[in-house]
Amino acid sequence: MNCTKYIKSITVNYNPKIALILGSGLGEFADSIKKIAEIPYSDLEGFPVSRIAGHAGNLILGEIAGVEIIAMQGRVHYYENGQVEAMKTPIRCFKELGCETVILTNAAGSLDYNAGPGSVMLITDYINFTGVSPLFSETGNERFVNMVNAYNKDLRRKILNIAEDNNIHLSKGVYAWMCGPQFETPAEINALKVLGVNAAGMSTVPETILARQQDMKVLALSVITNYAAGMDNEDLSHEQTMKFANKASQTFKTILTEFIKGF
Ligand code: HPA
Repeated sequence: MNCTKYIKSITVNYNPKIALILGSGLGEFADSIKKIAEIPYSDLEGFPVSRIAGHAGNLILGEIAGVEIIAMQGRVHYYENGQVEAMKTPIRCFKELGCETVILTNAAGSLDYNAGPGSVMLITDYINFTGVSPLFSETGNERFVNMVNAYNKDLRRKILNIAEDNNIHLSKGVYAWMCGPQFETPAEINALKVLGVNAAGMSTVPETILARQQDMKVLALSVITNYAAGMDNEDLSHEQTMKFANKASQTFKTILTEFIKGF
C-alpha cells in the first residue's frame, strides 16, 4: 500500500503540520516524542532504508507539547547507493499528510573556530558541491525550483530568538553538501573557506530541494561534531561524529522542543 494511505489507515485524526528528519547521532530526540506509532522504514513503500550506524530507520508518528509531528529517525544519504532521489518518497508523503514545515537536522564539520564541536549551527543557505540533484529526470516546469530563501526567514528568526531566550549560542552559516562518504581533504576545506562555507556535511540539501519544490517551509540545523579536515589534530571518523552529536543533544533538544511548542 502507498505509504501515505498506510499512515492514514492506521491513524485517526492525525494531522501533522511538522516533519522532522533526525540526522546522525540525533535519533535520541525521538524519546521526546509522545508516540502514536513507530513504523520501520522497511514497512513503508518507497521509504529508503539507511544502513548507517546512528540511523535507527523508524518513522515516528506522535506529538510534542500537543503539536502533532512526524519524525524520521535517520535518513538515507546519496553516498549509500548513488540514488540522489532517494528522499523523494518521504518528503512527498509528508506533504500529502499536510505538513507545512520540514525541520532538517544533520551532523557537520565546522570551518569556523567560533563554532566548535558540540555546538549547533542554523543553516542560512547552502552550496551544492555534488553536482547532482534529486530532481534529475523530472519533466515539467515544477523542476525549476526557486532556491532563494530556501531556509525560511521567519523560522530562522524564530529559532534565533528561542536560542537567545535560552542562553544558547546558535551560530549561523552556509552549509556545503559534499558527496562523501570519505571526509574532505584539508585542501578541499581550505577551498570551501574561501568560498564562504561555514560547515560541511553529506546530507540535507536534497531534502531541502525536494521540500521547496513542494512549497514546504524549511528550517535546517547542523550539530557540529568536529572541526573540518586539517583544522585541528583530530583524525575524523564516524565514531567521533556520533560522540559529539550526543554531546550536543541537550542543546539541540531544548531549542527544538521550544521551537515546536510555538506552533
Ligand atoms: N565533513 C562532512 N560531513 C561530516 C563531517 C565533516 O567534517 N562531520 C560530520 N559529518
